[in-house]
Amino acid sequence: MNAKKCIVLFVGIMLLICLAACGSEQTASNTIPDSETTQKSSTQPAIPIQPTDPPVETAQTDPPQENKTAIAVVVFSATGTTKGVADKIAALTGGDMIEIIPAQPYSTEDLNYNDSGSRTSKEQSDPNARPEIAEAISLECYTTVYLGYPIWWGQAPRILSTFVENHDFTGITVIPFCTSGSSDIGQSDDALAEQAGSGNWLQGKRFSDSVTEADLGKWINDLGETTVEKTLRLLIGDTEVSVSWEDNESVNALIDLAKAEPLVIDMSMYGGFEQVGSLGTSLPRIDEQITTEAGDIVLYSGNQIVVFYGSNSWAYTRLGRITDKTAAELTDLLGNGNVTITISYGGT
Ligand SMILES: Cc1cc2nc3c(=O)[nH]c(=O)nc-3n(C[C@H](O)[C@H](O)[C@H](O)COP(=O)(O)O)c2cc1C
Repeated sequence: MNAKKCIVLFVGIMLLICLAACGSEQTASNTIPDSETTQKSSTQPAIPIQPTDPPVETAQTDPPQENKTAIAVVVFSATGTTKGVADKIAALTGGDMIEIIPAQPYSTEDLNYNDSGSRTSKEQSDPNARPEIAEAISLECYTTVYLGYPIWWGQAPRILSTFVENHDFTGITVIPFCTSGSSDIGQSDDALAEQAGSGNWLQGKRFSDSVTEADLGKWINDLGETTVEKTLRLLIGDTEVSVSWEDNESVNALIDLAKAEPLVIDMSMYGGFEQVGSLGTSLPRIDEQITTEAGDIVLYSGNQIVVFYGSNSWAYTRLGRITDKTAAELTDLLGNGNVTITISYGGT
């Protein structure tokens, strides 16, 4: 290989590495400790206790990001509650999900706030505690960072201090959010902003574990920093599912239809792999030969919506993909008789 070819090859490889770094999730799977279950002792300051949160799976089920995005949703979550909210924010904004993973995971004993000798009790009472983060996180690609954490003893966990002190937020708008048993975000966001010493920090907000996508979408839009990418919502029967909608002419036409009024479509099970129903009108077609997967939503013949719980090969127009259901869950939802789906716009 001559020198010129070598240089071209090297530049090409570097370009690919850069693109991959910005578009992918920077998460590492982690053992989530069990939720806090014990009662307060009389020697500890009273803190509101949230009912036990079930552990949340951290397996990466999201489809890979195809586009570079300037939005990151950075979250530390010991028992999965804040991660659940962060997932919704990432789905709504199209942001990359980045988890702050502690080098030493928090065990149930570590999280016991009834024990004044527990790891979290010691860390939270020591303003200089800086728990180590397992993997370096790069914010180089981002201009907006949603930063999520649980409230521990009225504050952000000390690992957030480790994170903010180790990053330069210049040119980045930081939007803190938290979950808690009942405490508000308090001064925790201001304290982190001060420790960071750079960045445009907006006022943070506390959410409960049951916050809806509609509420989060409104919060995001009201912030005015980023907008919810697509505000189409899909109900299968009574079950709302998260959808990553395509950015194409057909979806834009679908949005216009749904803006006028929610589209209620009677679907029929077909072929053991799909539900299909007529829109009653035609959308622009961008048909391509596709082998579908469970969760794919496509336009068939210009005027029919198809939602897959299995696979088929045909010329369809891609409309979107359900992101929060496994193939088995989709079979439960779609493979047990005809369903009605509702496609609505925004929080309606
Ligand atoms: C050590 C510790 C301290 C906590 N302190 C508070 C608190 O001061 N106020 C509150 O409302 N909830 C408190 N909680 C409850 C958590 O904020 C709440 O369960 C949160 O949603 C957990 O988020 P995660 O699942 O993302 O870790 C505390 C929990 C732990 C483990």
